[in-house]
Amino acid sequence: MLDAPRTAFPPSFAWGAATSAYQIEGAVRDDGRGPSVWDVFAHEPGRIRNGDTGDVAADHYHRYVQDLDLMKDLGLQSYRFSVSWPRVLPTGRGTVNAKGLDFYKRLVDGLLARDIAPVATLFHWDTPQALQDQGGWETRDCAKWFADYAAVMFAALGDRVPTWLTLNEPKTVVDVGYTAGTHAPGKRDRSLANVVGHHLLLGHGLAVQALRATTSKSRIGAALSLSPTYPTDASAAAARQALVTDGEENRRWLDPLFKGRYPQDWLASQAPDAPVLKAIRDGDLAIISAQNDVLGVNYYGTTHITGTGARVFVHPTSQATWQEISPDGLYDLLTRIKRDYGDVPLTVTENGMATTNPMRDDDRITFLRTHFAAAHRAIQSGVKLESFHVWSLMDNFEWAEGYTQRWGLVNVDFASQRRTHKASADWYKKVIATNSVDA
Ligand code: FCB
Repeated sequence: MLDAPRTAFPPSFAWGAATSAYQIEGAVRDDGRGPSVWDVFAHEPGRIRNGDTGDVAADHYHRYVQDLDLMKDLGLQSYRFSVSWPRVLPTGRGTVNAKGLDFYKRLVDGLLARDIAPVATLFHWDTPQALQDQGGWETRDCAKWFADYAAVMFAALGDRVPTWLTLNEPKTVVDVGYTAGTHAPGKRDRSLANVVGHHLLLGHGLAVQALRATTSKSRIGAALSLSPTYPTDASAAAARQALVTDGEENRRWLDPLFKGRYPQDWLASQAPDAPVLKAIRDGDLAIISAQNDVLGVNYYGTTHITGTGARVFVHPTSQATWQEISPDGLYDLLTRIKRDYGDVPLTVTENGMATTNPMRDDDRITFLRTHFAAAHRAIQSGVKLESFHVWSLMDNFEWAEGYTQRWGLVNVDFASQRRTHKASADWYKKVIATNSVDA
């Protein structure tokens, strides 16, 4: 039998996988690590499915060498991880915890030794609890604290990490942590949420400045969760509502970073006395937009909006019921970023799906194959997409869903901590080895 034809990617394209600190590391009390908002939240009764916590997670803190070998075996060329802020600064600021910092030095050394490019995210939602006790991102000071922490990381690893990402999905902190309240810190206050959103962006901008104040030549940007938004019908009402949702989902994050302003329609939709309008001070947007060398795109699916502003699903979902699966949406998103925001280098920092069969995850293979093909089409259309990180390298603590949702290429048996390739891992290994996807 002949092999199916394969779609070849550019020789410089990098294949990767992503994780985040609280979701895999465990070791929450080891070597002087301080608590984050997620430690506290996960231990509150009723917050997480089955009362799960990230206390042990995939025990990556202790098993990172094995995990590095796993990455090498897959052939990964890029690995996106996050740094736990309270592991490096147990109370968020002040004295550096050398042992915590050392873990990331060893991790980065291990990646470089295996020829895997490190992509380090500074904030994947784990605000130090000591800072949360002082208001966390609700206070403007937090942007400064974040930049100081970023400076510690740049001093330690500024040159060895070629790509830094400041924030992961500020939108999720705003929408889920501060509006729905189902993520840490579990608040339900939309107007406060929007203030938090602005302070996060300001923190991004100040962290970019902190990198540029060093001699490091590394690149820096943010990772946004973006969802192309479509009206469900041709009516003017649906078009209007889809535009509003696009403002919330996409433009309120992209415009400040790449145009140095919030979208007019988004600002106009805020109440005249909305606290966010006061939180945005002169000069902030210049800081936020000063330099974005790269944009990380987290893509999980599309959003369809009716004329009454309701979200409806026109494509299939997954066990993660917020996910509307549409590979074409990835093409639309990547080409739209180029059209509306210029030729910024892009990396897909997350893309994947939750699957229920622990080993035979053919649905994940189909998902990845079709999304890789969409990414390839976008490259053909002139989009500067440099790399792709599958979410996730291995099964992990999926926030409020605990361990009930499995997103990994690699299965983790959490009782024994044994790692086993799923079907998708073997399939991905071939994609990487051939730099091509079976059509
Ligand atoms: C994204 C998060 C990531 C993971 C995936 C499934 O929103 O950034 O940590 O939970 O969803």
